Amino acid sequence: MNLVRKEPNTTNIIMKKRILYILLAIAVVAQFFQPDRSVPMVVPANDMLVMTQAPEEIHTLVQGACYDCHSYQSTYPWYASITPVNYWLQDHINEGREKMNFSRWNEPTAQEHAHECGEELEKGAMPPSNYAFIHGHAQLTPEQRTQLAGWFDVNMPAKREKGGSDHREEH
Ligand code: HEC
Repeated sequence: MNLVRKEPNTTNIIMKKRILYILLAIAVVAQFFQPDRSVPMVVPANDMLVMTQAPEEIHTLVQGACYDCHSYQSTYPWYASITPVNYWLQDHINEGREKMNFSRWNEPTAQEHAHECGEELEKGAMPPSNYAFIHGHAQLTPEQRTQLAGWFDVNMPAKREKGGSDHREEH
């Protein structure tokens, strides 16, 4: 009697264990898949902070708050290597670099959105708040935020009019 009643339970547990092992195996194998993090050689002379001769204080603030996503000098925390976090992060970084790249400041396309830096900072849109929450080095005090926004406003190239025309586009 007892045996008969217990049997379905045991098969159930075995099944659940099997599924768990399969999921674990998938998770382990997934770790061998990593996104491409290679970057072109970084040329210091083309770096935004070098080209603008930014003061040391600004170096620290911008590198801490913006460089992980808007330059080729990204630093990766350990969990950035875990699949699928790594793919999600790399996508975000690539998107950030595409919008604006402080490592290619010699190229006009890298600075098309630079005139928005001060505004993004003041709005609190950049650095993204979830990122700053995790990365202490990206957290800015209100004073640092104002200081950085002011520096960007003075030192970033003005909005370029596309094709030399006078037309303005809203963003
Ligand atoms: C965690 C990654 C990350 C960090 C850190 C970061 N950005 Fe961004 N940034 C992005 C991404 C992704 C985009 C493109 C998508 C968007 O506009 O939200 C972007 C877009 C921008 C844009 C273009 C805005 C627009 O909508 O056209 C500006 C300007 C900008 N960032 C400035 C900064 C500045 C200044 C800092 C540092 C104070 C910074 N970002 C830090 C990821 C980041």
